[in-house]
Amino acid sequence: MSKQKLAAIRGMNDLLPADAPLWETFEARVVDLLKSYGYQQIRTPILEHTAVFTRGIGEVTDIVEKEMYSFTDTLNGEQLTLRPENTASVVRAVIEHNLLYDGPRRLWYMGPMFRHERPQRGRYRQFHQVGAEALGFPGPDVDAELILMLKRLWDVLGVGPVRLELNSLGQLDERLQHRKDLVAYFERHHGQLDADARRRLHTNPLRILDTKNPAMQPLVEGAPRLIEYLGDASRAHFERLQQLLRANGVEYAINPRLVRGLDYYNLTVFEWITDRLGAQGTICGGGRYDPLIEMLGGKPAPACGFAIGVERVIDLMREAAGVPQRPLCDVYVLHQGGATLAAAMRAAESMRDTGLDVLLHAGESSLKSQMKKADASGAEFAVIVGEAELAAGTAAVKALRARDGAWPFAEQKAVALDRLGDALVEALESLSE
Ligand code: HAM
Repeated sequence: MSKQKLAAIRGMNDLLPADAPLWETFEARVVDLLKSYGYQQIRTPILEHTAVFTRGIGEVTDIVEKEMYSFTDTLNGEQLTLRPENTASVVRAVIEHNLLYDGPRRLWYMGPMFRHERPQRGRYRQFHQVGAEALGFPGPDVDAELILMLKRLWDVLGVGPVRLELNSLGQLDERLQHRKDLVAYFERHHGQLDADARRRLHTNPLRILDTKNPAMQPLVEGAPRLIEYLGDASRAHFERLQQLLRANGVEYAINPRLVRGLDYYNLTVFEWITDRLGAQGTICGGGRYDPLIEMLGGKPAPACGFAIGVERVIDLMREAAGVPQRPLCDVYVLHQGGATLAAAMRAAESMRDTGLDVLLHAGESSLKSQMKKADASGAEFAVIVGEAELAAGTAAVKALRARDGAWPFAEQKAVALDRLGDALVEALESLSE
């Protein structure tokens, strides 16, 4: 058997315990916030039929053309794909379970997504998103609310300044007219197009506007702007959204070249961007995708949403405040094996009944070495169930952290085994007063 060391797949990361408190803080805060705006959780499978994404995201997008982990299920020949994003899957589930039968829905999700991109800081092949999808709401009020919710989230997470870029993609007929003029414009300047742009010219010319190639910038600057093709209704939607944002103190910049990399969008699109993460500075992207439900076979219904790149936001949180240090437990229980182990185990369970986090020393070693472990655990108290204590029906409690004032267990003190939980909860409460 080969003994070659096994490693994780390139671009797919382990979350190690040292970083876990940061992720837990992020997850707890974001879930609280989403719930406070009336969003309900939905979980869809990580694996879907490939058609969910080819039909949903669009055949001629970077994601579908070159980034999907797709394969044929050898057992039944089905074409399957690891989800590269979750909006299409959520819409698939909403249609399948008829979730809009009694009115609109606000949904959220969190989990891993998969894209076969070139890994670098902030860009991974397995990454995580938290997303929100508001389905069945036609108006710009919901677009504004999603953006306000995100602004609040950045504050709650303490990620520092992030800027908001907005654009409107209008409706399909408006985009088609713009596209016609855009293609004609690029054809007139065919000599200046790079290979990528030439390839996209007749498949997805809007994406040429998104080019990162500096040589193409002057050409792109002079191209017809979609915003000038918007009809009255699209314009009104965009204007109202901006009014609502201004009235709520949200700063934004309109970026006419913001087109997003997925085909399902119309009207509002937006991104939140920071300069503090290098090239991968977009921490959140979203917008309105009124056509998608019908594209995936449902009864037409409007929708709007966003997804946050969790790794990128976590990076900002780490930069702002470091990783929160959390003790392993409140109480570390020491014992001397034999009957004291059984008693220590019972004591640990009864303390857990009162809500304390308790670590029971595993294995047998001297009390001195156990005390070192207790100290290193970050616990507030050591509870020693030694032979002498057990004989007296007590445990010795010792406070492990120096505290000002008359701290109850600064001196080692005997406490009846059946009083331990209450006594330590009381002591901890006196600390937080
Ligand atoms: P997206 O712009 O493709 O939109 O992705 C949203 C966010 O996910 C990005 O802004 C970025 O922060 C993060 N992200 C994307 N790819 C990677 C990667 N390879 N590594 C790390 N982070 C990444 C969507 O996925 C849409 N479903 C958003 C949406 C929801 N629109 C409407 N509803």
